[in-house]
Amino acid sequence: MGLALVVLAAGEGKRMNSDTPKVLHRLAGAPLLWHGLRAGAALGPDRVVVVTGHGGAAVAAAARAFDPGAEIVTQPERRGTADAVRAAMPALAGLEGDILVLYGDTPFVRPETLEAMREARHRHDIVVLGFEAADPGGYGRLLVHGENLERIVEDADATPQERLITLCNSGVVCADATVMAELLPQVANANAKGEFYLTDVVDLARRAGRSAGVIRCPEAETLGINSRAELAAAEAAFQARARAEAAADGVVMAAPDSVVFAYDTVIGRDAAIGPCVVFGPGVTVETGAEIRAFCHLEGCHVSRGAIVGPFARLRPGAELAEDVHVGNFVEVKNAVLHEGAKAGHLAYLGDAEVGARANIGAGTITCNYDGVSKHRTVIGAGAFIGSDTMLVAPVRVGEGAMTASGSVVTADVPDGALAVARARQEVRPGFAARFFARLRAARATAGAGAAATGTGGSDTGGGGRRGCGTCGGEAG
Ligand code: UD1
Ligand code: MG
Repeated sequence: MGLALVVLAAGEGKRMNSDTPKVLHRLAGAPLLWHGLRAGAALGPDRVVVVTGHGGAAVAAAARAFDPGAEIVTQPERRGTADAVRAAMPALAGLEGDILVLYGDTPFVRPETLEAMREARHRHDIVVLGFEAADPGGYGRLLVHGENLERIVEDADATPQERLITLCNSGVVCADATVMAELLPQVANANAKGEFYLTDVVDLARRAGRSAGVIRCPEAETLGINSRAELAAAEAAFQARARAEAAADGVVMAAPDSVVFAYDTVIGRDAAIGPCVVFGPGVTVETGAEIRAFCHLEGCHVSRGAIVGPFARLRPGAELAEDVHVGNFVEVKNAVLHEGAKAGHLAYLGDAEVGARANIGAGTITCNYDGVSKHRTVIGAGAFIGSDTMLVAPVRVGEGAMTASGSVVTADVPDGALAVARARQEVRPGFAARFFARLRAARATAGAGAAATGTGGSDTGGGGRRGCGTCGGEAG
């Protein structure tokens, strides 16, 4: 049976007090909108329709960034949830199967819950996701009779008696596409808010001899976001859940409360994550890898046995093979480090390929950017890059080759060769002793003069500086 996902995202989100449309605010590294899209995508929908209004172009771009096949429809005026689904109907023409309606600002609904709704569709034409609300104020209330859902009454339209009901509407609805197409045009707006309520389809269905039912989920899954405070609370809730899941999955964390996960972080069993590690989107850490304290990772893959950090940064496109070691203050971007390669300290490896077991000395930099374009550095297997080497890309260091410390490497280095690209050292016996003696003598003379005239001498001033004829620079 076919399935179409309809995500309502036309709301303004006034209470966010922001120029950014509400559904584009980020939760766990992704726009709110993506969370619902992701939960829905797990069901393998045939079509995905996002209903936009406020900030439509930006919302559309975000939807397409998640799912290039998503269809975007515009609801010109925000006239209620039924009107929003109506706006999506032309994009669903010919669909045979289910329409699943989600909200773009409700990020926690789980795919398992949506599956349960689809399963319940075997028994009902319309299935609504309900929850027991701790504080039902503001929600639509579900009037049930046994297993059947009779009607949904909005808070603004409810009688005092109906307001006592704690079983509430989450807003998630799964309905037969034909039934939805038949009932939607019948929804009117003669209610407290003057809006076209999607919830009215339940009553209309029952009157037309169709059946509606309820599936219940924990309140936490239905949490919607309307303000910055709610977004912060949702982030905290997300992180708490992600930490608990990681621990249950066998991830070792010394200080779980300080680890920040993204919506899609994947960490293998027995991987060890140190304190204060931040995962941006798109990270996979394999079984048994170790991420030490204070690392920042995004868009990267860390293989088994690799050790990262402390204080390392892996940026998008960093690919670490097995047993790679990336140490403190090393930044890796768009670079593959093959098996056993090591960059222990203070290095930048960008747009690069580092061969197996190559050793990258402290202070090595791939100079990948010429001010206009990025260029690649290729380092062969077993190469030894001396400390403080500048690799001016495009450049290739061959297998088993080496570079001398402090070299600025601008030309390819053949396999097994040594590249030395620095000034040859000169040694001048006794120079330093004579040089400092002269400076001290000059300062003593200047100090005596200042005492005589009453002006003070300064430790940090340049008064004692002299051009140094020997080394060609200014000494001081
Ligand atoms: C809705 C439900 C209510 C439920 C509650 C759960 C209706 C009539 N009421 O109420 O039963 O308990 O959600 O949170 O459905 N939207 C549009 N276009 C519109 C109107 C809304 O895209 O014209 C989108 C909003 O962006 C939002 C969602 O639909 O994502 C719900 O709209 P909202 O105004 O928050 O509905 P509630 O009054 O909270
Ligand atoms: Mg709402």
